Amino acid sequence: MNYRQNLKPVFQFVICAVFFSSIACAEKETLASAEDLSISEDFKNPIGFYDANPTFSWKLPVLENNKSQSAYQIVVATSKDLLPDNADLWDSKKQDTDQSVWIKYEGKPLESRQKVYWQVKYWNQDEEASAWSDTNHFELGLLSNNDWSAKWIGLDTKKEKVMGSQENIIHRPQYFRKGFELSNDVASARLYITAKGVFDVAINGEDVSDDVMPPGYTPYKERIETITYDVTDLIESGQNTIGVELASGWHSGRLGWMKSLWLDTETPKALCQLELTMKDGSKEVIVSDESWKGTTNGPIRLSEIYDGETYDANLEMEGWTTNNFGDNSWEAVNAFSVEDTIRLEPKRHTTVKNKIELATKGLIKKDGAAIFDLKQNMVGVPLLKVPMKKGQTLKVRFAEMLSPDGTFYTENYRTAQSTNYYTASEDGVISWSPKFTFHGFRFVELSGYDASKEPSKDWVTGIVQYSDFEENGTFTSSHKKLNQLQSNIVWGLRGNFFDIPTDCPQRDERMGWTGDAQVFGPTSIFNADVYKFWASWMQSVRESQYENGGIPFVVPDVLYNNKVSSGWGDVCTIIPWKVYYRTGDVAILEENYEMMKEWVAHHKATSKDYISSMNSFADWLQPYPANGNNKGDTSHSLIGTAFFAHSAKLTAQTAGILGETEGQAKYEALFKSVAEAFENEFFDETGKVKDVTETQTSYLLALAFDLLSEDKQANAKKHLLETIEAADNHLRTGFLGTPLLSQVLDETGEIDLMYKLLFNETYPSWFYSINQGATTIWERWNSYSKEEGFNPMSMNSLNHYAYGAIGEWMYERIAGIAPLEAGYKSIRIAPEPRQPLTSAAASVNTPYGKVSSSWEILNNEFQLEVVVPPNTTAKVSIPANTQNELMLNGVSFKENSNIKLLKTNNDAFELLVQPGNYKFIAKL
Ligand code: BGC
Repeated sequence: MNYRQNLKPVFQFVICAVFFSSIACAEKETLASAEDLSISEDFKNPIGFYDANPTFSWKLPVLENNKSQSAYQIVVATSKDLLPDNADLWDSKKQDTDQSVWIKYEGKPLESRQKVYWQVKYWNQDEEASAWSDTNHFELGLLSNNDWSAKWIGLDTKKEKVMGSQENIIHRPQYFRKGFELSNDVASARLYITAKGVFDVAINGEDVSDDVMPPGYTPYKERIETITYDVTDLIESGQNTIGVELASGWHSGRLGWMKSLWLDTETPKALCQLELTMKDGSKEVIVSDESWKGTTNGPIRLSEIYDGETYDANLEMEGWTTNNFGDNSWEAVNAFSVEDTIRLEPKRHTTVKNKIELATKGLIKKDGAAIFDLKQNMVGVPLLKVPMKKGQTLKVRFAEMLSPDGTFYTENYRTAQSTNYYTASEDGVISWSPKFTFHGFRFVELSGYDASKEPSKDWVTGIVQYSDFEENGTFTSSHKKLNQLQSNIVWGLRGNFFDIPTDCPQRDERMGWTGDAQVFGPTSIFNADVYKFWASWMQSVRESQYENGGIPFVVPDVLYNNKVSSGWGDVCTIIPWKVYYRTGDVAILEENYEMMKEWVAHHKATSKDYISSMNSFADWLQPYPANGNNKGDTSHSLIGTAFFAHSAKLTAQTAGILGETEGQAKYEALFKSVAEAFENEFFDETGKVKDVTETQTSYLLALAFDLLSEDKQANAKKHLLETIEAADNHLRTGFLGTPLLSQVLDETGEIDLMYKLLFNETYPSWFYSINQGATTIWERWNSYSKEEGFNPMSMNSLNHYAYGAIGEWMYERIAGIAPLEAGYKSIRIAPEPRQPLTSAAASVNTPYGKVSSSWEILNNEFQLEVVVPPNTTAKVSIPANTQNELMLNGVSFKENSNIKLLKTNNDAFELLVQPGNYKFIAKL
């Protein structure tokens, strides 16, 4: 490595100034190196990676003289030592472009197990070159079924009844072990592993990872994800033992509200392949096969996602994953070759992990039981440290809320037992968490503990579990309830991104409802780095698409009913487009374009003269439905036709980005035809809904999806405002209408009204649930009220993210950050301050770096601080009296190379801003 790469730019400059001519130096590496290198959907140095054709991305460091990139060079090699000068896989050579994200690998083909190293350098706007970046790397997983010599192993698990339930049956968890001897010392070891079910694995008594319920949840008949672990440090010389625990999970558990197991034909199985490279260069492979032994007589007696886990400590098998264990009583396992029909592919997003610990905040003692209150509705498991007497069975129940009389509210779990049992083998304090189940709860009730001990708060800790993503954005304001809403949105995200996007985390569903996903997806991308999560689930959506182009209600498709719903199936156009819009990565469009086309064809096939007759859950859970129906009052045909048009439009836009000019023209024309039919069928001359029930959502769909000719738009808007006024300035929207409210009111200049709706305290509104004590987003606008108690419907989740879709508007318009170009290459910062807010701030990590916008109104002045990342520009709009002076960083604003004044109108300064940090102050 060149010694100067390690030096900070300032030192390089000094060295240059002192020893070399400055011209020679400018040609060399005078800039700090690129940062935050990642591949494909933002993976950092992954192992077991899924993509042999990755893309490369990096960020320019924030430096005074780093405005934009003028060129880059990427070098890729099979060994670190070959870089940067002898890249044997790929040398992109210097490419003159400002593109610093999603650059496609164009080198030699990569294969399973291959380890790849890469570096990048860039040139800035003044042609100054950076130092080479740190060397990053990735290692591919097993990309093809042919890479597996291991066999699926399993025992004939009988199905058992879940304790406390007459009907719910499940497979007993299994334990497998294998001892093996190595003749040489190991240099490196990789464990490739997966399950038809969920697993945990240990080598020589050590946990291999802290993953929760791997491999995760996919359409198992099509594809099962595999996980790669680096286990080099766990392997010993000589004798070793590997042990695998296996439970039903999603694969062989009951899913849906049915009591049956959805893949009843298959018992749970495990598959693992330990590949060792020895110090002498030789290879050894240990695979799961008929030589392994197994038992179902382990401590986890039963484990089921909906129903909970039963653990008997008397059956613990001390040391069963170590060499010192006698497995004579264990059986030989059955072994089955890997089938061709199910693709084994490396997991393409992060596993679920234990992410946050919540301490108990309140404790209530009641009739021999103790109720622990975490004061936050959460998803995961409890960590229990509870005194018990030998032979006692601890019963652990969960609830999201207590009934007003203090009893547990569990009606909304429906048939999910959501109960754990732990039988103690000795006197003393146990330390236990269930392993293969999860719960949605705020309250934990314990009974059956050592009654001579006084319950204390430290008996229960909430372990919050979700797919391992990090925060990607922040939003805060001067308003306590708005901040609580933001917190509820984030907790809804944490609670329902459990390997797949779920509708709810607690009752007998927890399925990938496609409508909920399309509604909340856009907001999730602000709050968390969930690009890979969505890209991965979209693969499951593709794999679940019916032959006729239909997209199932839920993905994975555990309901198998061949039915579709408008507004739900449209997830397949909406999510790829929104993800593209936020990331700028065309890969998400390339991958999903065919699916979009087939879905649009399905829309067409279920319509006559472009008017849809597709089934629909419609504006699900709209408040005050005239007919009392969950599906609300908006015409299903109107909804179906609107989504037909919208999906055609998104498909046209996608074709445009992909350079498919024919497709673009075709879908644009289709959009126009559907829009025209929509207008004629559902709207009269005055832009009023005709022949079907007039609802807020019918106007919202027409305006948001641009389905009316210009002359009718203004009138339709007028009628929309009338429907809102008639509802005493309250929303009357369900799942499909709600996310469009803010978009339409914003685009039609009704921001005051949107603020009014957002800050409404009475039903139905966002703050209504907050006033009733919500710590997450609820399924219904009135899931609970202090006056009337719980909504009488058992379909009443208190953790259902759909109405959290308002988060997108809070980031984009209250704080003011939105892309002007896909991926934030150019950014719009245009906050809309209104009463009752006196300040708001947001930040978002874009592919180019962090953007932030923070405003405050103080002494009749509007203050705005913005951060614009390198290699982007921002259009900043400062709402103020433009007759007065604008101040920038404490002095009177003058145009300079960093900021151009684009225009002033009476109420805003419009500026074009180069990367940097700025503080503007203007009189209101
Ligand atoms: C789910 C939803 C879903 C809906 C479809 C419910 O049971 O929880 O959120 O979208 O069914 O109508």
